[in-house]
Amino acid sequence: MSRLRSAMLKGKRAGLEMVESAKPTRKRAKKAETLNAPSPSSSYHTFHDPADVLLLRSRLLGWYHKEKRELPWRTLAVTESDLNIRTYAVWVSEIMLQQTQVVTVIDYYNKWMKRWPTVQDLSAATLEEVNQMWAGLGYYSRGRRLHEGAQKVVSELRGQMPHTVDGLLKQLPGVGRYTAAAVGSIALGQVTGAVDGNVIRVLCRLRAIGADSTSPAVTEALWSQANTLVDPERPGDFNQAMMELGARVCTPKGPLCSRCPVQSHCRSFHKVHVKQEENSRKLLGKPSTLPDIEDCVNSETCPLCPSEPWDEELGVQNFPRKPAKKPPRVERTLTCVVIRPGEEREDEYLLTQRPNKGLLAGLWEFPSLLQGEKSSAMKEKKTLCTQISGILGTHLTESLFQYVGEVVHIFSHIHQTYVVHSVRLKDGDTQTQAENAQWLTRSALQEAAVSTGVKKIVKLCDSVDSQKEQTSKGGKRQKPIGTKNNKNQQTSKKQKLSAADSRQLSLSAFFNSVKQES
Ligand code: ADE
Repeated sequence: MSRLRSAMLKGKRAGLEMVESAKPTRKRAKKAETLNAPSPSSSYHTFHDPADVLLLRSRLLGWYHKEKRELPWRTLAVTESDLNIRTYAVWVSEIMLQQTQVVTVIDYYNKWMKRWPTVQDLSAATLEEVNQMWAGLGYYSRGRRLHEGAQKVVSELRGQMPHTVDGLLKQLPGVGRYTAAAVGSIALGQVTGAVDGNVIRVLCRLRAIGADSTSPAVTEALWSQANTLVDPERPGDFNQAMMELGARVCTPKGPLCSRCPVQSHCRSFHKVHVKQEENSRKLLGKPSTLPDIEDCVNSETCPLCPSEPWDEELGVQNFPRKPAKKPPRVERTLTCVVIRPGEEREDEYLLTQRPNKGLLAGLWEFPSLLQGEKSSAMKEKKTLCTQISGILGTHLTESLFQYVGEVVHIFSHIHQTYVVHSVRLKDGDTQTQAENAQWLTRSALQEAAVSTGVKKIVKLCDSVDSQKEQTSKGGKRQKPIGTKNNKNQQTSKKQKLSAADSRQLSLSAFFNSVKQES
């Protein structure tokens, strides 16, 4: 028996954390059903036939075996025999995968694991290094928490990663119910379901759960279903198969039902077909059939049934239902690219560090100032001039400040507009004693822990820059480049001004990738 498998079985035998899972016995299934039941009608929304559960598991795992993507964390989870390293490796992957797509994570993950292959290695890193590695991945508190967790494991847990779902949940910062279950099942072979966004969608469709998927009743029902379905022999594979199905087949839009290995278990697929048949009967003038015996018998009061009417056009996409999102907060931030001649006249850029708590904590950015209300261009320049003068401990004149343009950046909960200016300084104006400020060359800036907002600002500067080059070469004015949302007249005018300005930002061909983050 492989060491990995034996460690997993040992964990199970020791009863380290056995979340209830379905065994194909009537007694078990009955009990699961009672536990699941939010109302007497809910057998429609559960898996109550043990044979059905067995079949679903085998179909899903068969499909996963053939179709799964080879991903670095999956490989590690199978090949790494050291339990501590394996748990660490899966923990890192699960944190990176929160709110971030698999394709984006792969590169970050490989680099991370190469640099910090063990929890001890990570605990010895500085937060600055972690932020640097995380730059561009978004939701920066995730990296910070991983680092914090690694330090805790080393200093408080004798370097041993927790080895139960409960331990992971209670002892690691940033690890919630889903992450603990995913790490526990994938790395440790703990028998528990794991419900993430993909799994919510798969389960809601399988069991036609159309009530608000964020409600406590639905959340509990989904966890209960996941615990019923999970394969006790291969919990990690089963959970990843559910995620894979959600990511590749049971997608939010345009689900590929014809390729679904568990189509015959899917109540919403069935419902779509019943509705289609009903419509055809109506069209042909035939009488409607009796209500589908497979329907929830108590849909009026059932906490899992949709409260909104069935939308014919959506088909299986009627499930799941989410409450309407709160609109994002709208913010405007004044920001300034300050450039000085460095050693051997190489340009250097002034960066300031964000506070250690809150949005983009600890990251470096061009000096910025959140604006209360929109004010005149003159006033904006004045405000920035005062701020930069303060950082440098000097008195700059407003005329040095040039408007560059605007950059829109969408965080999960904030619609941020950066109003970008730039200023080129002479040697004498440029000393800063502030601890949270530094001058970086272009290559150092490339390596630094900066957010995607900063990258976008650099991109804007680049495009304005290259436009100016074209204009000066061709002797002809080009239309200034604006940002997508930049439609107002005042902005265009200002951009024309900045394009006509002879100052060079020299920020070309830098920071290509731009992603959404928070
Ligand atoms: N999303 C969350 N965990 C995942 C995993 N292990 N594989 C693929 N996608 C995931």
